[in-house]
Amino acid sequence: MKRVYFAFLLFVGIFACTQSNQVDKLDSVDQPNFAKHIAPIILNHCVRCHRNGGGAPFELTSYDKVKQKAKTIAKVTSMRIMPPWPADPNYAHFIDENILTQSQINAISRWVKNGCPEGGSSEKIFANVSSEKSNIGKPDLVLSLDTVLLNEGDLDRFFLSKVNCTVPHGKYIRAIEFIPGQPKLLHHFNGHLINYHGTSKQNLESRPSKIEITPVNKFENLRETSKTLAFQRELLNDDRSIPERLHSVVNYLPGVKGVMYPDGIGTYAVAEKFSIIGNDVHYGPSRKTLIDNSKINIFFTNTPPKRGSGELMLGTNGVSKIVPPLVVPANKITKHVTQYTVTDDISILTINPHLHLLGKTFLAYAIKPNGDTIRLIHIPKWNFRWQYFYTFKKMVHVPRGSTIYAIAEFDNTVNNPNNPNQPPKQVAERLEYGGSSMRATDEMFQFIITYVGYQPGDEEFSLEHGNR
Ligand code: HEC
Repeated sequence: MKRVYFAFLLFVGIFACTQSNQVDKLDSVDQPNFAKHIAPIILNHCVRCHRNGGGAPFELTSYDKVKQKAKTIAKVTSMRIMPPWPADPNYAHFIDENILTQSQINAISRWVKNGCPEGGSSEKIFANVSSEKSNIGKPDLVLSLDTVLLNEGDLDRFFLSKVNCTVPHGKYIRAIEFIPGQPKLLHHFNGHLINYHGTSKQNLESRPSKIEITPVNKFENLRETSKTLAFQRELLNDDRSIPERLHSVVNYLPGVKGVMYPDGIGTYAVAEKFSIIGNDVHYGPSRKTLIDNSKINIFFTNTPPKRGSGELMLGTNGVSKIVPPLVVPANKITKHVTQYTVTDDISILTINPHLHLLGKTFLAYAIKPNGDTIRLIHIPKWNFRWQYFYTFKKMVHVPRGSTIYAIAEFDNTVNNPNNPNQPPKQVAERLEYGGSSMRATDEMFQFIITYVGYQPGDEEFSLEHGNR
């Protein structure tokens, strides 16, 4: 009897120890060193961006490189500016949630105060950091978009862009990832897939591959839209019939990394010849003359699609209107709601809140017919720079008849450091050509949802193992 009791205590003891280990161990280390304590934090939370090809302006892939930036690192981690993760972890959790614990932040500070001791070689820790320009794995195919020259002093610029491809027989597309060449300037890429049937390769190649739509100051010029239409008209099968078009197969906004769902989910069947068109390649204002060479990574699979994904867009350009209409008067903070009742049972995979420079907060949830709330996302402090597509750890079932609400606040006062107008002036959603202006200095309020039709058991369907 006694022995059993003792064994039980031992068991509880070990369990409690391993639980608190991660949290408390760092706190009890007075003199953290790089090799043992700091490098693992950098490896797990920073190098996905701070590596060659990762999009951040410098690498943090060795002791010397981290030491060089040590003071700023202590500062930006304690202010929770880095790693960037705008979503509130007390509201909802997502794959790749990138947040440091207070113990980790404190350990970095102590390490810097103590003069950044190395504590042995740390070379091995960073040995496997890849310089691949992908965040989700090794692409099977890398497509290069046409080069874009951005001139010093350019305002917003918009392009349509197209890249052609042929796919080996029996392959399907599992994931498509956009890699911006100029991540600081590339604001938005929305890619559609065009499936050609019966189209010869020469014909495919002879079609135009890039056009600039319009510089911002000439936006009212209607001639420009006919150019766009002409470009779209070139996207035809050989017999002049209209090819199949799959919308939004790849999306990019600042800070976005690609998603890889479990095999068979959200997979695309493609014709032997297909194109990806960048329907709206948007660059922000440029201070320097630069060249952009953006790329598209394609990941193939042999598994045919089991469950195709759909996209639901609330707000600007979407299925639901914004109340009150999106007008933000100078020196005002405004609050707007958009809501939509789903007519089928769906399982949400990924969500993307999208606002521009005046964004202040973002909240989204669904209310089920029985009155229960399904939390989706809360962003207490909007950051234009980091507009992730957030993928849930498990599919989120939203039953038929539930209403999805998105609520956004906008700050058009001088207290908003991102306010494009000083002094502030009225900013609004601007509709043109039947769509919305996407200029960062106009506003948008969108909530984009990627989903599949619900199947029993989806609540336990982990989306995590898809990320290889
Ligand atoms: C999602 C990509 C990403 C991750 C993850 C990330 N960074 Fe950054 N970091 C950036 C980018 C991009 C910049 C350039 C500034 C900007 O664009 O906001 C930056 C800037 C910085 C700066 C310079 C800030 C300044 O004010 O000069 C430091 C220091 C930094 N990061 C440290 C870190 C550390 C430490 C981590 C991990 C704990 C980390 N970063 C994680 C992308 C990232």
